[in-house]
Amino acid sequence: MTTRTPLIAGNWKMYKTGPEAVAAAQSLRDLTAGVVDVDVMIAPAFTALAATAGALEGSMIAVGAQNLHWESEGAYTGEISPGMIRTAGCRYVIIGHSERRQLFGETDQTVNRKVKAALSAGLIPILCIGETEAEREAEQTFSVLDKQVRLGLEGVSLQTPGDIVIAYEPVWAIGTGKTATREQAQEAHAFIRELLGKLYGEGMAEVTRILYGGSVKPDNIAALIHMADIDGALVGGASLEPETFARIMRLGE
Ligand code: PGA
Repeated sequence: MTTRTPLIAGNWKMYKTGPEAVAAAQSLRDLTAGVVDVDVMIAPAFTALAATAGALEGSMIAVGAQNLHWESEGAYTGEISPGMIRTAGCRYVIIGHSERRQLFGETDQTVNRKVKAALSAGLIPILCIGETEAEREAEQTFSVLDKQVRLGLEGVSLQTPGDIVIAYEPVWAIGTGKTATREQAQEAHAFIRELLGKLYGEGMAEVTRILYGGSVKPDNIAALIHMADIDGALVGGASLEPETFARIMRLGE
């Protein structure tokens, strides 16, 4: 039996202006009444971070960013530093999402720099990993996950439980309506936890949360969360509408 508190995280991607994000956050805040034993996070766009964090102050919902730059400041037009994110009221930051890797050229090396920068700034990185459909068909799922975890965490020392969250998101399941079966997800999660055990010791592996992401909905969260190594979800599309996301926070009840 696990003692890991589930984390339900919403990735709002490039949706919602500041006022729209605040309105959705306020609805979510009302909808969390009675939600216990679950951690909740939403990640709005950069422009909505501070206002959303303000609207959620004192609530159980934490705020995260969807990306960051690894430098603390400098001439990096268009980039946002860990300190800026922290000061905007964020506790978490999503790193290495497959859309960033596929569309914006992120590599395991840039992901690694971002993970280190986030940890130094006191943010909790949600490190995203996952295989493409071609890689799964070529039976490379485990080697891809192995590489993404090892390189993403290279030189990273984890000190306390909860320092980092891993999100397993098979690329073929993101925004496609195709979900990995709970057995496929569990198999990948167990592999990741075993690898964390090799890298950081079993104790740290046991307390590290591994989220599943890819077409999570109110009607599949319960089956997923009951699997031994699935500790929550990173939710895209179904996090945009507060009522729907609230049902996922309630683990499908
Ligand atoms: P989805 O996205 O829930 O819309 O599949 C998940 C994600 O991109 O994190």
